[in-house]
Amino acid sequence: MPQENQNLEGPDPAVTLAQAAGLAEHLQRVGVQWLPAADPDSVTALAEQLRFAADGSPGEGSEQVAERTPEGTSEQVSAPPAVSPPTVPPAAAPPTVAAGSAQPSTAGPTTGFSLQSDSADPAEPYPGPSLVPEMRAAELAKFSEQVAACTRCEILSQCRTKTVFGEGNVAPRVAFFGEGPGREEDLSGRPFVGKAGQLLTKMIQACKFAREDVYIMNTVKCRPPNNRNPEPTEIENCREFFQAQFEILRPEYIVCLGLVSAQALLSTKLSVGRLRGKFHQYFDSKVLVTYHPSYLLRNPAAKKAAWDDLQLMLRDAGLM
Ligand code: URA
Repeated sequence: MPQENQNLEGPDPAVTLAQAAGLAEHLQRVGVQWLPAADPDSVTALAEQLRFAADGSPGEGSEQVAERTPEGTSEQVSAPPAVSPPTVPPAAAPPTVAAGSAQPSTAGPTTGFSLQSDSADPAEPYPGPSLVPEMRAAELAKFSEQVAACTRCEILSQCRTKTVFGEGNVAPRVAFFGEGPGREEDLSGRPFVGKAGQLLTKMIQACKFAREDVYIMNTVKCRPPNNRNPEPTEIENCREFFQAQFEILRPEYIVCLGLVSAQALLSTKLSVGRLRGKFHQYFDSKVLVTYHPSYLLRNPAAKKAAWDDLQLMLRDAGLM
């Protein structure tokens, strides 16, 4: 078809509707104040109707994507977006972070395997109120100070140069969740600024976001010596901090980069290969698991699969 005719057709109504649905949900999630105030049930119902009109599907949770082969294979994801029922309900409710009353969580260690449920129950919402951006920034700053003073992990607190709390948009649609700081991050105090960080930045840009549009954070906030994996006790020591971050940020999507963050957030022992290619749930964030950028640097053949994972999110968000 000639180019001019395409232009005359205007935007695809299905795409426009899907984008409107995503935007309505996002505005509600980040606590945009409506005058008069919108009824949350009506917003959700409208978003569902728009999504239904856009893709003719009955909405989330209607399809399961087959589980993947183990990490390291380059099998492609060809199934349509699907939101599985919560892979794991959070082991314990994260701390309620109302303005001025942020408290560390008392959540204990979480172990065990992923619960695959066929229930179509709606996700449990994040507890507590959704804060306006200024209050989110203030609450995050308080937790960042606590992290900077933290000495729970004897080894990590003695070895670190700087703690690496996280950075980015405090009302993000997407939060990227890595493992732990490496050398460059330890020196700078910023997440994902080394070689793996450069690849992550490219992945973010391929999604048509800037780094500043998203939030970037890690499971543990101090560099494990020699870049070893964080120990389970170290992850548990940091759990209250990453839980508090998510509760404040309430991202629409959390992208777990690699095994450590995926297993910590979803309380599962499954591999990345098994977890990727479909959505999981953490409170009312949709969770996508994909390969860690460091793994992609060592195994470039897996980049195609990682891009498939990100496209799953972009399609679901009405962004492509
Ligand atoms: N790898 C991670 O998981 N996080 C960083 O911040 C850097 C490298």
